[in-house]
Amino acid sequence: MRDMRLQKYLALSGIASRRKAEELITGGRVAVNGIIVRELGTRVSEGDEVLLDGKQVKPEERKLYIALNKPAGYVTTVKDQFGRPAVLDLVHGIKERIYPVGRLDYDTSGLLILTNDGEFTYKLTHPRHEVKKTYTAEIAGIPNDEEICRFEEGLRIEENFVTSPAVFKVKEKKEKSCVVEIVIHEGRNRQVRKMCEAIGHPVISLKRVAIGKLRLGALKEGEWRHLSKEEIEWLMEES
Ligand code: URA
Repeated sequence: MRDMRLQKYLALSGIASRRKAEELITGGRVAVNGIIVRELGTRVSEGDEVLLDGKQVKPEERKLYIALNKPAGYVTTVKDQFGRPAVLDLVHGIKERIYPVGRLDYDTSGLLILTNDGEFTYKLTHPRHEVKKTYTAEIAGIPNDEEICRFEEGLRIEENFVTSPAVFKVKEKKEKSCVVEIVIHEGRNRQVRKMCEAIGHPVISLKRVAIGKLRLGALKEGEWRHLSKEEIEWLMEES
């Protein structure tokens, strides 16, 4: 939370309009960190305890849900410790502290959701909820039926981790590679890359095209948009 005037803090908490909040303050009904304040210029920030008639009040933060088409060459963090471009560098004009839901590798492009809603993030990323994620990948070579079957049934990609059933469809065959659509329900680190590697067809390029029913659609690389109410509901329902 940013530093703000006490009357604004009270208004954002849904307690009263700013004008009414001023009356509450001058009327001696508001305490900050245990002390009654009557001055309208008082500012509050993160960590301050605000009480109205002895009861704690907290501002309702506007919840934001954003879909970004992440280009390759961006890290999925708020800020990178090595100074590389970070996905948040692409989202301008948002005051709230948003962060990415899950992650895409530095080299992966495509759909990434950003929000400041912790419960939504928890639901979407919790392994138990198994929201499906759809990727388009170009992979080296052309897999045979046996390899596709192993991919779909489950592969050991880490010492203690076997993937759950997945979907693998060859969309386009090229001379030395092919384009495939992959659907998985998990989000292990570099999972799709490891799965393709495990069947002997390493990823050349990778793009996430959907999370649940939410599709990347016409969003261009580096662009973002707010999700609609309906889209937020889809994601909540699926998780
Ligand atoms: N799987 C990967 O290997 N990389 C990603 O970025 C996402 C899924």
